[in-house]
Amino acid sequence: MLTKDQVVELLQKVQDPIIHKSITIRDVKTKEGYVSVKAALAQTESAEQMKVQQEIVNILKEAGAESVGLRFEQLADEELPQGTSANPNLPPLLSPESKTQFIAVASGKGGVGKSTVTVNLATSLARLGKKVGIIDADIYGFSVPDMMGIETRPKVVDGKIYPVERFDVKVMSMAFFVEDNAPVIWRGPMLGKMLNNFFSEVDWGELDYLLLDLPPGTGDVALDVHTMLPASKEIIVTTPHATAAFVAARAGAMALKTKHEVLGVVENMAYFESKVTGEKEYVFGQGGGEKLASELSTNILGRLPLGQPDFNDEEFAPSVYQADHPIGKQYLEIAREVIAKTE
Ligand SMILES: Nc1ncnc2c1ncn2[C@@H]1O[C@H](COP(=O)(O)OP(=O)(O)O)[C@@H](O)[C@H]1O
Ligand SMILES: [Mg+2]
Repeated sequence: MLTKDQVVELLQKVQDPIIHKSITIRDVKTKEGYVSVKAALAQTESAEQMKVQQEIVNILKEAGAESVGLRFEQLADEELPQGTSANPNLPPLLSPESKTQFIAVASGKGGVGKSTVTVNLATSLARLGKKVGIIDADIYGFSVPDMMGIETRPKVVDGKIYPVERFDVKVMSMAFFVEDNAPVIWRGPMLGKMLNNFFSEVDWGELDYLLLDLPPGTGDVALDVHTMLPASKEIIVTTPHATAAFVAARAGAMALKTKHEVLGVVENMAYFESKVTGEKEYVFGQGGGEKLASELSTNILGRLPLGQPDFNDEEFAPSVYQADHPIGKQYLEIAREVIAKTE
């Protein structure tokens, strides 16, 4: 079994590709075959990080670790050698010439289907011929790769990260920068850096739409998005339950305060429709979406029933509805409306 000291010793030879010094190890934990390492790099969520990740995992597994949990944070500015700067230029996607429309998908609380809506709106926009990307910005609850059945990681070529493409949608997620589902612990300033890196380190190519799956609520990431993407539009997801809508109203109010246009409300889990009798049951109540939409002076983009995608062995993606699935068809309608509202 590897000891802490052995791990630190072994990782001495891993270089930070940007500042050409051994990487900074912040913390090591070992338990039976499991080794968890927290390290700091000059530039996280970057091509360099992907390389270092691979290197660490290889070294530790070769030395006998069964599984390796990794977390990274960015070196503080004081820790960087003089003259190193992480992000010198404005990334193309954020430049004034960029034609990409940003749509942040927000909700008041978790579990209402925000990620499901993001993923299915993205695939539906792609089915309608749009070039689409997703940033999974729900830093604690990242789930987009899993929901889309993504099992590969982004490719790194010449120091640029190329997002993983699935169902013609380009995806970037914190999940790609975490080994073994290790918990991610963030402190304030790192959040903004993460978003920034997702723009500056990633080659998105040309995009018509970039959807951001925000964390629930009105926390730091939502604020960062508001600051970084002043032209971003928003979709608010809620269930029909009065409490959910009440909490979602805060997220909507924040969008309005920061002058983000709210494209509309998606009421998810709106009802259950019996396959046998066709009867609708409003299991989570009724009216939440409407109330929210009227409070935000917007309209309802769609009311989605409870239902799972059909199981598909060949194209496994647990949360993506097929284009001919009744809910998949509803998502196409929502996508059409989004296009109409943004063009
Ligand atoms: N319309 C729906 N019918 C059935 N299950 C749903 C529906 N929408 C979402 N779910 C499920 O509910 C859970 C929460 O959805 P998710 O999109 O992860 O929510 P959030 O991102 O808001 O936390 C997931 O397991 C998802 O598969
Ligand atoms: Mg989610």
